[in-house]
Amino acid sequence: MTDMSVKNLQYPQDWIERKKQKELISVVTCYDFLVAKWISKTDIDAILVGDSLGMVVQGNNSTLPVKLEDIIYHTKIVRRGAPNKFLIADMPYGSYQSDLSEGLRNSFRVIKETNCQALKFEGADDSTLKVIDSLVKSGFPVMGHIGLTPQSFMMMGGFRIQGKEEKQKQILLEQAKKLEDVGCFAIVLELVEKELAKEISLRLTIPTIGIGSGNQTDGQVLVIYDLLGMDPDFTPKHAKKYTNFAELGIRALQDYDKEVKNRIFP
Ligand code: KIV
Repeated sequence: MTDMSVKNLQYPQDWIERKKQKELISVVTCYDFLVAKWISKTDIDAILVGDSLGMVVQGNNSTLPVKLEDIIYHTKIVRRGAPNKFLIADMPYGSYQSDLSEGLRNSFRVIKETNCQALKFEGADDSTLKVIDSLVKSGFPVMGHIGLTPQSFMMMGGFRIQGKEEKQKQILLEQAKKLEDVGCFAIVLELVEKELAKEISLRLTIPTIGIGSGNQTDGQVLVIYDLLGMDPDFTPKHAKKYTNFAELGIRALQDYDKEVKNRIFP
């Protein structure tokens, strides 16, 4: 480490140093300019432009339809709103699974067009590990993601806690180690059984960023619309609503409608 504070995460080494110092890491997803501006004025450490945008922005029932172009579009916008934050772009389904050279071509496109500081990949199968390995060797930071990986939710039997059975537990421990060995600077643990999430976090030197995986990981990530309470109809069980923008927004829109119709506004 240089004299740069670990409080300001800018490089992969800072994340690892943060874990060493036992300082927890906060991450949120973001998809648009104005909310990115809000985040830029907080102490939140990093922003993930997640492929969750397929659900919470585009209204699909999974992340599978998200295109590379969607990630590029939203990451560029978020970068403009939060130039001061560590920015991670999520590689969407089908953009890296077919072969190494296509995975790399797509990764380099996101890097060059968005000005992000890291890419995130779901899973730890051999082909994904090869893409991650090449990117890390080329000098670009990569975040892993295991547990419930939404791009494979159908094969996993839906959005359910992972790692309850011994066999699955061993697989997740192995995947975490492989991702660390291949050079990831952090790993998202999504819906991982909480004792297992703790064990993975203890075994790794790189930080684990949990979502729905208990409070013993090295940091947390939430989908920003869940924490802001943007969806009037649905909040995932693991999320906490820190406010209720849906209620405020609907009330404001109703007030506007009434005032227009009663010639109160303008
Ligand atoms: O796409 C996403 O938002 C994610 C987080 C939930 C980790 O992958």
